[in-house]
Amino acid sequence: MNDFSPPLPELPCIRYVDSFEELVSARFSGPVNALCWPRKLEGDFAEIVEKLRVGRGITTIDEETLAALELSPAGEVARKSLLEDQAMMEACGLLPVLDCINGYVNLHEDDGPVSTHVQSYHVDSATDEADTYLCTYFGASSEALPNDQVIPKAEIPALRAELLALHGGEDDEGFAEFLNENFYDLHYAPLPGAEPWSFGVGNLWRIACEYPGSPVPPCVHRAPDTIPGAPPRLLLIG
Ligand SMILES: [Fe+2]
Repeated sequence: MNDFSPPLPELPCIRYVDSFEELVSARFSGPVNALCWPRKLEGDFAEIVEKLRVGRGITTIDEETLAALELSPAGEVARKSLLEDQAMMEACGLLPVLDCINGYVNLHEDDGPVSTHVQSYHVDSATDEADTYLCTYFGASSEALPNDQVIPKAEIPALRAELLALHGGEDDEGFAEFLNENFYDLHYAPLPGAEPWSFGVGNLWRIACEYPGSPVPPCVHRAPDTIPGAPPRLLLIG
């Protein structure tokens, strides 16, 4: 009923937990920058996606829209799960958003030498302590790479030269600011032989962001490639 989900990997950067309470209260430390509560959710999420009938791009689904859908019993089970997840996260002071993603509009319109799109490997950043919660309910899921299998794109000599030319200045503090202001410093390239792992479907993840004083390196991840003709994805992000 749901998409194929590959087995979850055993990696030093991932810690698995048994409950939402544990997911929220766990601390990132050592090599761990991704926490996962593995789940197999019941219900027909495909039906939800189908009946939402979203247009191209990203549509945020509010609770009223979800509540108004006429669903089969299996669709109803899926809707209950979506609402429960949002309520659970909101009760912890999180701000979950349910998005139905039907491809991306203007995919590389603003790209310079370094793509800053969510389908490019990147880290989420914040000015203060923060992390990102993610759950894919339907469709292709986000994927990630261990930090020792990536290189910041701005540190690849050819790309750095292009970025420097775009900046039109010296490789100094001003250039670092330029990289930061344009999010170029948040994007990474896989090293040769890198093996991405998939977040899978139904699992609730909490991944480390980049912020001053973070005890761990941020989790490098990306949205999956758009598969032409594939139905929209359903994603909770908080
Ligand atoms: Fe992200």
